[in-house]
Amino acid sequence: MGTIEFDTANQIISMQGLHSSYVIQLYSHTLPLHLYWGPHQKLADTRQFSPSAEPGYSIKVKDRDTSYFIEEFGCEYGFAENGDYRVPAFGVRDSRGYPVTGPFELDVNIYRGKHKIPGLPSARTGSDEDIQTLELRMVDHPSGLLTVLSYTMFPEHDAVTRNVIFHNRGNAALRLEKAASVSMDMPNRDYELLYLHGAWARERQIIRRTLQPGTFSFGSTRGISSHQFSPSFALLEAETSEFRGDAYGYGLIYSGNFLAEIELNYGGNLRVNMGLNPDTFEWELEPGGSFYTPEAVMVYADDGLNGMSRRFHRFFQERIVPSRFAEMERPVLFNSWEASYFDFDESTLKELADTAVDLGIELFVLDDGWFEGRDSDRTSLGDWQADRRKLPGGLKSFGESLQHRGLKFGLWIEPEMISYASKLYHKHPDWILAIPDRPAAEGRNQLVLDLSRPDVCDFIIDTVNGLLNSAPISYVKWDMNRSLTNAAARHLSASRQREIYHRYVLGLYRVLDEITRLHPDVLFEGCAGGGGRFDPGILYYMPQYWTSDNTDAVSRVRIQYGTSLFFPPISMGAHVSAVPNHQTGRTTSLEMRGQVAMSGNLGYELDLSRLSADELDSVRDQVRFYKQYRSLIQFGRFLRLVSPFDSTDAAWMFIHPEIDDILVFWFRLYGEANRPVSGPRLVRLRLAELDPFDYYRERERRIEYTGSELMNTGLILSPSRLDYDSRLIILERIR
Ligand code: DGJ
Repeated sequence: MGTIEFDTANQIISMQGLHSSYVIQLYSHTLPLHLYWGPHQKLADTRQFSPSAEPGYSIKVKDRDTSYFIEEFGCEYGFAENGDYRVPAFGVRDSRGYPVTGPFELDVNIYRGKHKIPGLPSARTGSDEDIQTLELRMVDHPSGLLTVLSYTMFPEHDAVTRNVIFHNRGNAALRLEKAASVSMDMPNRDYELLYLHGAWARERQIIRRTLQPGTFSFGSTRGISSHQFSPSFALLEAETSEFRGDAYGYGLIYSGNFLAEIELNYGGNLRVNMGLNPDTFEWELEPGGSFYTPEAVMVYADDGLNGMSRRFHRFFQERIVPSRFAEMERPVLFNSWEASYFDFDESTLKELADTAVDLGIELFVLDDGWFEGRDSDRTSLGDWQADRRKLPGGLKSFGESLQHRGLKFGLWIEPEMISYASKLYHKHPDWILAIPDRPAAEGRNQLVLDLSRPDVCDFIIDTVNGLLNSAPISYVKWDMNRSLTNAAARHLSASRQREIYHRYVLGLYRVLDEITRLHPDVLFEGCAGGGGRFDPGILYYMPQYWTSDNTDAVSRVRIQYGTSLFFPPISMGAHVSAVPNHQTGRTTSLEMRGQVAMSGNLGYELDLSRLSADELDSVRDQVRFYKQYRSLIQFGRFLRLVSPFDSTDAAWMFIHPEIDDILVFWFRLYGEANRPVSGPRLVRLRLAELDPFDYYRERERRIEYTGSELMNTGLILSPSRLDYDSRLIILERIR
């Protein structure tokens, strides 16, 4: 039996996941209605869903075979000008400027597998999988617009991916003004909205709020998915916690401007839209042309936020990240940025490399400052040749010197950018994003290359390909340090100017696609001033991401906790840096910094020559420990236990079905003397997902517990400090 069934008599389509169902009704052969998404259920009789008598003041469209008050129904892809006054999912105008409103003629196509989306990242399918795709094909005869709503059910992940394709089958151009990737109307059950907001150095902080009538929206107009909001959110029931309750999660596989809209209308319907941000988007669809929206992924979990995260983590690891990296252990790295910023030469780098090898580090990442004349952030972006003052033998000889030491070589680049002070700018001043006759705005003293231009993309592909061929580089940190401004596309006609933001992202994806195809074994880590473009679209090419420029242990606990709602620890770059911290000025112990960083992809980013012998010993121990537990941390299940957004403590754990040890991390961010509950002297940390009848031994204190004790009474900890305390507890399952 397939995962998608079409009951033609009742015009009901049900998509079945292992624990979830998604049900659509085709109303009157014209309108797809959203009937249900949630725990697995089988429908016996669907007549209950038929729209009943028409209420007063309803809007009718002549010749519809029946009339109904569309606003009171749950739609799958709502549109305007037909009596539905909620925020529409899409808007299209014909060549005269008139809105395309339907009625649509609806047709159903179900096929095995899933199509790729041209030019865009989308979930991958394995050939052996029982995966089916549903297409709802909606024809608007007067305009010739064919709108295809595409859904793929990934049963094992309880995930549904969606995207929409617009084909112009008419004789005149059409104008897309809005084109969400996902839209659905859920019957409201007093849902709460959880989403992530932030800023540079304070990414992905959790917000949870109730919904009131009206529309709440968030998104990005910065050209990147942004530090400020993530293209992901969840609807939760009021009682949903980390371990219990329903969670409906949404994510957009896209790295540019997006908009999420959540509207609670007077009739108790909750409309959810997410996709391209219509404030910065339009698309001219020529006759014969097609437009593909980015793909969205939705997961349903009945076991709380940890259940939702588990599904997202697995889905991103198994379906989004390049498959060769999904199960590849990630190296422990050293990064030169906070060690030396722009101020280094080959001998200082080699000294750092010698110490790094001695500490057990596996990859040496040469960050910003290595290319021609790059002694500050005012210059040289675009001129990607090694600065011979700093690297007399060039990248090849430096890379080989690392290899001789037993280190892999990683390189930082920022190929989407250009400095005024660069040879590239003098050669191609027209390649920057700029509005003719107006000054271009600089950000971090730099300008953005116009990636909507194919020739600019070709240049980047050739340049990066050349670099990767020129030296033994096994890792690339791909940075992007400013948002887009002055978005005029000088190579496009007036009617296409509002296409530029999306074309930029399409250009970026073409570049990444080509480079990762040419260099499939190079590990890419994404970065945009820290975590400014940490989204599933980038993960499709780059399996890990620099989570934040803020490496302060206290800030990082919150940033990594928020990030983990959607993204797995293996995707999070996490480094130990110097104290006082360069972003916050805070001083935390090396132990705590290590414990926070080893909860992601461990790295060190500080001047190793300033560490004392004791500190070097501690780092050596941390690296050894991390390598011992790397597969548990990178491939195990990550469970959040205590939220730093609800308390001044935080805790999480890693557990793996095939590994007997369990790692538990506990952090105290700020303390208060004599707190009544969970006070400074005693903490009861309740664990989860253990076998209640198994026995576990705490390695250090040799205390034994049953699983049920650990999950109910909890692990007893006695903190020693008020602020910035932490514990790493290893529990061994006793066989
Ligand atoms: C911003 C990044 O987030 C940092 O890690 C570092 O690579 C700098 N850019 C270099 O300019």
